[in-house]
Amino acid sequence: MPKARSVYACSACGFESPRWLGRCPQCQAWNSFDERPFAVAPARGAKTLARPGATAQPVPLREIDGAKIARLRAGMPEFDAVLGGGVVPGSLTLVGGPPGAGKSTLLLQIAARLARGGEVVYVCGEESAAQVKLRSERLHDLEAGGGDGLLVLAETNLRAVLDALERRTPVALVIDSIQTVWLPESESYAGSVTQVRDCTQALVEFAKRTGCATFIVGHVTKDGAIAGPRLLEHLVDTVLYFEGESSADYRILRAYKNRFGSIDEICVLAMHDSGLREVSNPSELFLGARGQRPSGSCVTASIVGSRPLLVEVQALVGETSYGTPRRLANNVDQARLSMILAVLERRAGMHLGTQDVYASVAGGLRVGEPAIDLGIALAIASSFRNVALPPDMAAFGELGLSGELRAVGSSDRRIAEARKLGYRRIVSPAGAADISEAIREALG
Ligand code: TYD
Ligand code: MG
Repeated sequence: MPKARSVYACSACGFESPRWLGRCPQCQAWNSFDERPFAVAPARGAKTLARPGATAQPVPLREIDGAKIARLRAGMPEFDAVLGGGVVPGSLTLVGGPPGAGKSTLLLQIAARLARGGEVVYVCGEESAAQVKLRSERLHDLEAGGGDGLLVLAETNLRAVLDALERRTPVALVIDSIQTVWLPESESYAGSVTQVRDCTQALVEFAKRTGCATFIVGHVTKDGAIAGPRLLEHLVDTVLYFEGESSADYRILRAYKNRFGSIDEICVLAMHDSGLREVSNPSELFLGARGQRPSGSCVTASIVGSRPLLVEVQALVGETSYGTPRRLANNVDQARLSMILAVLERRAGMHLGTQDVYASVAGGLRVGEPAIDLGIALAIASSFRNVALPPDMAAFGELGLSGELRAVGSSDRRIAEARKLGYRRIVSPAGAADISEAIREALG
C-alpha cells in the first residue's frame, strides 16, 4: 500500500506546496497553509474515467446540434445586458463583492423576476428564511407578481439541496453564499478552499445536466483579497463583481468574465428603500453637478464595456512637504499615472518633481483604458497652474512617450456622448498633435 502523503494548500488562493509555508508565494497571504491528503483528486478522477458506459467518443463538429440559446430575461435591461443579453439556461454565474454591496438584495430581486417564468429556488445559507421574507417585503420586484414561483430553502448541506432539487425542475437556482454551503463527502470545513471548489464543481455538474441557470454569491474581502471566489473564476461561466465604495448610494456591477457575452460590461444600480434599481443614464451620475468646475477637474469620454461613458478625472497637485513626493492614483492605474507625469515633465516642461500628485476618477468607477490619459494629463496641468478648464470642454486620447497624442477607438461614439450631455468643445488627437498643443487648447 502506498504511503499516505499530504500536501499543503493556501486557504486563500489554493496554491499547493509539498511543505508548510509561512507565506503564500502566490497571493502573499500569511499563515494560510492547511494540510490535506494528496491522493484525493487523482483517485476521484480515476473513478470517473473507469465508470462503465462512460466511454467518451469524439463527434464531428458538423453533426453537433447548435440549438440557439434561448435566454431568460430577468426584466432588468441593464442587468440582462451585463450578462450579454439575458440569463443563459444551464450557466453558472458568480456574483462577488464585499459585505453590504447588495449581492443578496440583487439576487433576490432577480430570483423574484425569473420566478414569473417558472420555479426559482433561493438557498439562503447566511440568513434564516424569516430574514429573507423580511427583506423581500421591502422589494418592489416581489409586489409586481411572481411570488408563488419563488421558493426559499434554508439549508447549508449542498447534497441535501441538490437532492431536494432532483424532484423539481427549477429554471434558476441561487446559492447565497458559496462560503456557507458544504458537501458531506468533502472532508474540510465550510468556506475552505476544498469545500468551495467541490461545492462549485457539484453545482457545475447540476447546472449543465439540468439546464438550471445557477447564481453563486461569493464574498470578497475589503482589501480585495478574494478568498475562495478567485479560485472559482475558471470553474464558472460568468463572473460579476460589485466595485466601488458601497457607502455610495449606487453600485457598479462589472462583468470580469463572460462565456456568453463581452467582458467589462457594467451596470449601474442605485440602492433605494425598495431594493436596487437600474440607473439608465450613468454618465450624468458620474459627472455630478453641471457648470463651472474647479481647477484640477477634466471631463473625459471613456468607453466602458460596449458603452460610451463620461467620467470626471480629478487631480490635486501641491508642493510636497516631505522629502519624496507622493503620487497616489485612485481608480486609475498607478503605473499609468507615473508615465503621464514623466511625459508632462519632459515634453510639456512642467516641473512636477517637487510636487505631490493625487489623481482619481470621481464616483468609484475604475477606468483602465489608455484613452483617459489626456483627461488625467489635463486635470494635472489644470491643478498645477490653478486654472480651470472651460465648463463645456471634454477630452480623450492616449498619450505616447514622446508627448504625441494617439488616436483611440470609437472616437465618434465618445464625441456623440459628450455632445449629448452638452460638451461642445472636445480636445482629442484629431485636433491636437501633442500634449503641449492640447494644454494650450484647454488652458490657453
Ligand atoms: P445585502 O444585499 O444584504 O448585501 P450583501 O448580501 O452583499 O452583503 O444588503 C446591502 C445593504 O443594502 C444593506 O446594508 C442594507 C441595504 N438595503 C437598502 O438600503 N435597501 C433595501 O431595500 C435593502 C433590501 C437593503
Ligand atoms: Mg448577503
